[in-house]
Amino acid sequence: MYTTDLRTAEEKAKDAKLKVPTKEEGEEAFQARIDADEYIEPKDYMPDAYRKTLVRQMSQHAHSEIVGMLPEGGWVTRAPSLKRKIILTAKVQDEAGHGLYLYSAAETLGTSREEMLNQLHSGKAKYSTIFNYPTTSWADVCTIGWLVDGAAITNQIPLCRCSYGPYARAMIKVCKEESFHQRQGYDGLLEMMKGTDAQKRMVQDSFDRWFWPSLMMFGPPDSDSAHSSQNMAWKIKRFSNDELRQRFVDATIPQAEFLGIKLPEQVKWNEETKHYAFGELDWDEFWAVVKGDGACASNRMDARRKAIADGKWVREAATAYAEKQRAAVRAAE
Ligand code: 3HC
Repeated sequence: MYTTDLRTAEEKAKDAKLKVPTKEEGEEAFQARIDADEYIEPKDYMPDAYRKTLVRQMSQHAHSEIVGMLPEGGWVTRAPSLKRKIILTAKVQDEAGHGLYLYSAAETLGTSREEMLNQLHSGKAKYSTIFNYPTTSWADVCTIGWLVDGAAITNQIPLCRCSYGPYARAMIKVCKEESFHQRQGYDGLLEMMKGTDAQKRMVQDSFDRWFWPSLMMFGPPDSDSAHSSQNMAWKIKRFSNDELRQRFVDATIPQAEFLGIKLPEQVKWNEETKHYAFGELDWDEFWAVVKGDGACASNRMDARRKAIADGKWVREAATAYAEKQRAAVRAAE
């Protein structure tokens, strides 16, 4: 009689004692690792739902980085001086780099970059609401640096300690660069506030339009946040949407006062809580923009689809060149 089982009797006895963990036992051991603040790496066991929510969040994050290049990219040729042009070009390039790190980190979970981009371009995947607002003046470019990148840093510093190793490590470099972005924006506004009345009005108008949308970047209120409680248990998120929003407001208002900006009447220091109160945000507007009703939504997607079509020959050429290099290495071996 033939057999494909070539184990010795001793090995068979040893294997019989080995117990395959049940799904519940696997998830318990996984949670114990998270609770012990261990990083989860690509080849480690992870529940399907953990993988799925990470791909969702990381790809949305990556999409936000590359769509975020569009509102500012259009201002490179219109920046007011050579210095500002150089700084803005560097910033926009940084955002492309952030997209690259994040797509690469998300790919370690088994979803290809092509698939993630297809989801963006077909309208299935989300990206941050903030990039669906128009950038109508030079002050807007500086306000984006100050408020939008400032909000991004507040949200992303805790992500440097997120439980998924490749995401956490990618965020360290992203946060360092976002910090430069925030400073360049604030510096641009400081300069304008030293200028003419028209420049000061431009800054105020820009703040009035971007302040509330920047607070919406932190997501819906905790009571409406579908993913928060599970993602906090998994330490993907370390703080809730409302906690981070409050932290951002508390850091930003003194900066606005230093600039000489007139604050909205809802913003008031609360001596009891030792935080700035800011009233209720327009959540109907938030959900409408999330669902694709933002002023620039179709424009952004048209620009992305055009970029992917225009870049087809570059990707093909790069793939052909890489294949040629590999063939040369194989031939030399
Ligand atoms: N824009 C668009 N969609 C948003 C959103 C926003 N500002 N805030 C929340 N949503 C969506 C969520 O994606 C989720 O939708 P889904 O179930 O279809 O995926 C839904 O609203 C419910 O929200 P939750 O609070 O339950 O979602 P999360 O727990 O994922 O929290 C988040 C939302 C705080 C944005 C979180 O995903 C996160 O921290 N993401 C990583 C950071 C990120 O994506 N930042 C983008 C900012 S821009 C940027 O970084 C570019 C820089 O250069 C400025």
